[in-house]
Amino acid sequence: MYNFDQIISRAGTDSVKYDGMKRFYTDAPEGAIAMWIADMDFAVAPEILEAMHERIEKKIFGYTGIFDESYYDILINWYKTRFGLEVKREEIVISNGVVPAVNVLAEVMTKEGDNIIITTPSYGPFFGAINKAKGRNALYNRLINTDGYYTMDFEDFEQKCKDPNTTLFILCNPHNPTGRIWTAEELTKIYEICTANGVGIISDEIHADLTRVNQKVVPIAKLFPDAKNIITCTAPSKTFNLAGNGHSNIFIRDEELRKEYMKAAGGASTNPFSIVATKAAYSQGHYWLDELRAYLDGNFEYIKQFLAEKLPEAVYTVPEGTYVAWIGLGAYGLSNEELEKKITQNGVVIESGRSFVDNADSYIRVNIACPLSVVKEAFNRIEKALKG
Ligand SMILES: Cc1ncc(COP(=O)(O)O)c(C=O)c1O
Repeated sequence: MYNFDQIISRAGTDSVKYDGMKRFYTDAPEGAIAMWIADMDFAVAPEILEAMHERIEKKIFGYTGIFDESYYDILINWYKTRFGLEVKREEIVISNGVVPAVNVLAEVMTKEGDNIIITTPSYGPFFGAINKAKGRNALYNRLINTDGYYTMDFEDFEQKCKDPNTTLFILCNPHNPTGRIWTAEELTKIYEICTANGVGIISDEIHADLTRVNQKVVPIAKLFPDAKNIITCTAPSKTFNLAGNGHSNIFIRDEELRKEYMKAAGGASTNPFSIVATKAAYSQGHYWLDELRAYLDGNFEYIKQFLAEKLPEAVYTVPEGTYVAWIGLGAYGLSNEELEKKITQNGVVIESGRSFVDNADSYIRVNIACPLSVVKEAFNRIEKALKG
């Protein structure tokens, strides 16, 4: 049994979430609960900490790469056993993060004047990646929101894919911020439309391990084992609370693209702690992860009951994946900015719809990867902010 109820202070660790909060949320009061940026307030699994301690004991932290093949065996085994995805050794490239990888991929998979589709609401850095790549245009495929459950507008998607300038789709599975896990049927439709129109697919599956206990992600690459136009982005960072280590694994099947990617990315670098942490996570992290998922399920259930009782006009469905709650507060008549301000001033730092590109008005995203006692206090404060 692991302890997810323990409250651990992150003050003074240079954490963006806590030490950086005042920079981004200037009116956050002292003692504000940080529920914005997506990392967790749970201790890293003891198996991973032990591996990192052992590495410290080796006393020297010089230039480091991956030279022990067991790294790849462990990674391949994780994806095979947990997802049924067969990853070949040569497909794997490492990156300092999924976002840096998406930035490079958006550039090398398209050319100036091309369109890149994202589904909105969208994780902000996807838009950032398109914006950074010179002359690329972002097309928004607006998800359809039915009482808080999101589905794809395939008619619009197909139309956008048919535009000859459209060459790339950034898929997010599970979807941040809505928490949707796309079904095999939906993924098949996405693949068929993209492939028929020469559109590549970046599938960001960074949240794929973090599903509700009764849910499972089917990687789109698993459905189409020979497809060369699918790139899968993964990382141990979200799953095991290692984001500060800056390490991710990207699966690129197409050899030419892989070469181009590596050239543009300027050579992958990593650090001694990421390697040992990743190996420990993917070889010994199964039990910890499954307990974590059950704990997160409990937090989401608590919120469901709380909202039904105290804020019944809020629109919310328990997300299928991720550890963020996406809550519609349109009934309270406040803009994104007003919601953010009111809730922040009442001592909870969340992200409002303005962080999610488009199609996100009057929504808030609340990161609930923290002890239940903290979730309870935070939602009491949110209630006060909306009613008080
Ligand atoms: C969908 C998605 N992709 C990528 C990231 C960040 O990835 P990384 O820290 O590896 O750059 C996040 C973090 O919130 C995310 O939600």
